Amino acid sequence: MGEVVPLPVPEKAPEERPVLVLDCGGQYSQLIARRVRECRVYSELVPHRISPQEIQARNPLALVLSGGPASVYAEGAPKVDPGIFELGIPTLGICYGMQLMAQDLGGRVERTGVSEFGKTEFTAEDSELFVNLPPEQIGWMSHRDSVTAPPEGARVVASSQSTPIAAFEDSERRLYGVQFHPEVVHTPYGNELLKNFLYSVADAPATWTAAAVIEEQVERIRAQVGSERVLCALSGGVDSAVAALLVYKAVGDRLTCVFADHGLLRKDEAAQVVETFSNHFHVPLVHVDAEERFLGKLAGVTDPEEKRRAIGEEFIRVFEQESERLGQIRYLVQGTLYSDVIESGGDGSVAATIKSHHNVGGLPEDIDFELVEPLRLLFKDEVRRVGEELGLPERMVWRQPFPGPGLAIRIIGAVTRERLEILREADAVLQDEVRRAGLYRDLWQSFAVLPAIRSVGVQGDERTYAYPIVIRAVTSEDAMTADWARLPYDLLETISSRIINEIPAVNRVALDISSKPPSTIEWE
Ligand code: XMP
Repeated sequence: MGEVVPLPVPEKAPEERPVLVLDCGGQYSQLIARRVRECRVYSELVPHRISPQEIQARNPLALVLSGGPASVYAEGAPKVDPGIFELGIPTLGICYGMQLMAQDLGGRVERTGVSEFGKTEFTAEDSELFVNLPPEQIGWMSHRDSVTAPPEGARVVASSQSTPIAAFEDSERRLYGVQFHPEVVHTPYGNELLKNFLYSVADAPATWTAAAVIEEQVERIRAQVGSERVLCALSGGVDSAVAALLVYKAVGDRLTCVFADHGLLRKDEAAQVVETFSNHFHVPLVHVDAEERFLGKLAGVTDPEEKRRAIGEEFIRVFEQESERLGQIRYLVQGTLYSDVIESGGDGSVAATIKSHHNVGGLPEDIDFELVEPLRLLFKDEVRRVGEELGLPERMVWRQPFPGPGLAIRIIGAVTRERLEILREADAVLQDEVRRAGLYRDLWQSFAVLPAIRSVGVQGDERTYAYPIVIRAVTSEDAMTADWARLPYDLLETISSRIINEIPAVNRVALDISSKPPSTIEWE
């Protein structure tokens, strides 16, 4: 795959002056960057080992030191270069980050024997961090060690019953620390505190908006591709759709989208891609209806990994044939997200290594294109906001994650046209009812699965021998873990009776009540 040449940040772009989050290995590091961006200030995650010189070169508006799992005094614990505190840049330490500041700046950190986990009441004083916020608050705590003496010159501005130093600030040196986590939703005034830090302390302008992202990416794409042609593979998912629209806005008809339709999408999804891109936005689109080819390759294949391989290979073949037909095209759009590229964590390696089987539907390594990656700076929620701003339909913008191999890995055993139709219809009923109940966006994923068994039923006076459908609905933050969703009984009843009544090949509906781990979200 071609190299991505980093482009210079356009002048006056929000990224020109980022808020840098130094990742000390805590589970909420990415979330901090997202929260800062939600305050419309551009933020990036950087390794905690970043040097003061590297920081200065980025000209940041502020620094945030994240939480971390270690004790600051433990051997091998993530450290920051204390020189960063001499830069005069407003700095906020959170949890472990606060303790690092205390340790490095003449305070003290100890294991006091009192831990705090979960929602904790604290009292805040009149101060820069807590300006205009109520004095009695709740903070989400998760610590065993505590700061027992603040940095020299810092004033204690919040305390809880068991942690007398829950926050400190040194307005002169612009150094701030909080023991609780303002980035999690369980700290009700957490966002307000971050805003106080960003807007008042760091004087950061709120310029990171969807409109600004669009304007700037369009400029960057134009600078990168000049007068060349660009190719984009659409999958039906939100990332490729938003990336394609951004590129279209930048280069117009010099973009061609290829939608290699494997026929394994949900009901009406393929039609919606064509309707949106071709008819609504007038993006040059090649819709390759390859259902026949894919079903041919899947004939008799029952092993899940074999299915993935067959689909992946065929996908590449279809794409190559189409791109050959289109002639010489130099650039290829990829919907790579920020979370795929972040360098972070204790060892400075790339954080998001995607499971190999999740790359199905991707393009081969040795393909001869240069890449255009307009979503490289964005988190998923930002991609959605940009999609909304670009006018993508709600259904596309808010679509739940959907696996590249599509319905093929939700049909246990062999994929036949008949079984595909059964699953597609059952899934459509489920989606319809979940949406009607207003739960679609609350669920990470919700879908139907068709097992390779049949069971006995009775309909009218007839004995039936037909398939069951399994309902799978989960809540999750990132798909690494998931819990089965407690769907209301009434909703389950409606889904069940509609599926059984409307689909003759189904006579039973079951509910999957397993969480991940030990189960996975998908059945294959
Ligand atoms: P599991 O089943 O491993 O799924 O809990 C985690 C997330 O990954 C999605 N998934 C896939 N996505 N190609 C994809 O693009 C795949 O082969 C694939 N398998 C699973 C799954 O839908 C869930 O969001």
